[in-house]
Amino acid sequence: MTAPVAIVTGGAGGMGTAIATVLLDDGFRVALLDRRGAQEAAGRLAGTGEVLGVEADVSDEESVRAAIDHVDMVWGRVDALVNNAGIEPPHAVRSMEPDTWRATLDVNLTGPALMIKHCVPLWRRQGGGRVVSIGSRVWLGGGVTPAYAASKAGIVGLTRTACHELGPLGVTVNVVAPSFVDTSFNTQKADAGVLEARVDRFTEASPLGRLVEPVDVAHAVAFLVSERARNITGEVIHVAAGTQLAPTIQ
Ligand SMILES: NC(=O)c1ccc[n+]([C@@H]2O[C@H](COP(=O)([O-])OP(=O)(O)OC[C@H]3O[C@@H](n4cnc5c(N)ncnc54)[C@H](O)[C@@H]3O)[C@@H](O)[C@H]2O)c1
Repeated sequence: MTAPVAIVTGGAGGMGTAIATVLLDDGFRVALLDRRGAQEAAGRLAGTGEVLGVEADVSDEESVRAAIDHVDMVWGRVDALVNNAGIEPPHAVRSMEPDTWRATLDVNLTGPALMIKHCVPLWRRQGGGRVVSIGSRVWLGGGVTPAYAASKAGIVGLTRTACHELGPLGVTVNVVAPSFVDTSFNTQKADAGVLEARVDRFTEASPLGRLVEPVDVAHAVAFLVSERARNITGEVIHVAAGTQLAPTIQ
């Protein structure tokens, strides 16, 4: 049997690398799509399975089209799309610049929609596929940056609508919503002291008393793209150690 193919956007980042590692372990061929560092990331994982690095910007339709065409040309199919690329430029609504708002929505929400759009012809040809988008617990309780929270609430709306449209093609569409995970997503935004205080607040807010790790998110993704999850669609799975039930954590 031919190995299934997954595309992981933001594949050079912390969560993307963990997701790719688990999918490779599950027998997928994995295309790491990232606007920077995709080839290097693919090189680091090369010993663990069939990996392809694809430099692309998910917010640019031509770039998305070219990236999916490239994966189709190399492997001839896409079984699972993991929309994981994301950004959170700091801002408050009272001083928000429209460019910051648009940039956040372009990557976090328009990006997944474009990726889905350009995978549809392949899923039609293959008779099915899987979409898992990485949301965030902030879609429920809010977070620190309004454009980011709006984009992560938006991905739930996109998912719950796309699952109706794509269900007849045999495509499931779901969201995995993590809480704070210790990746460069956070380390690049704050100094060590601020970060340590956030780690403490998230740990205290968790009924389990612990932080979520990238591999926890990867395991939820691996389940949703597996045959075991064939009848789960339009769903949001929180991988948040229970912090999705806590009031806003700053
Ligand atoms: N780390 C957290 O605390 C946390 C919590 C909840 C949700 N998330 C979500 O998880 C996902 C992954 O985050 P991470 O923690 O691995 O962050 P990360 O910064 O380590 O990785 C994000 C990756 O996305 C890539 N990227 C950004 N813009 C892109 C674009 N336009 N086109 C292609 N690639 C692009 C970056 O180059 C980077 O490699 C994001 O969607 C983020 O919103 C993260």
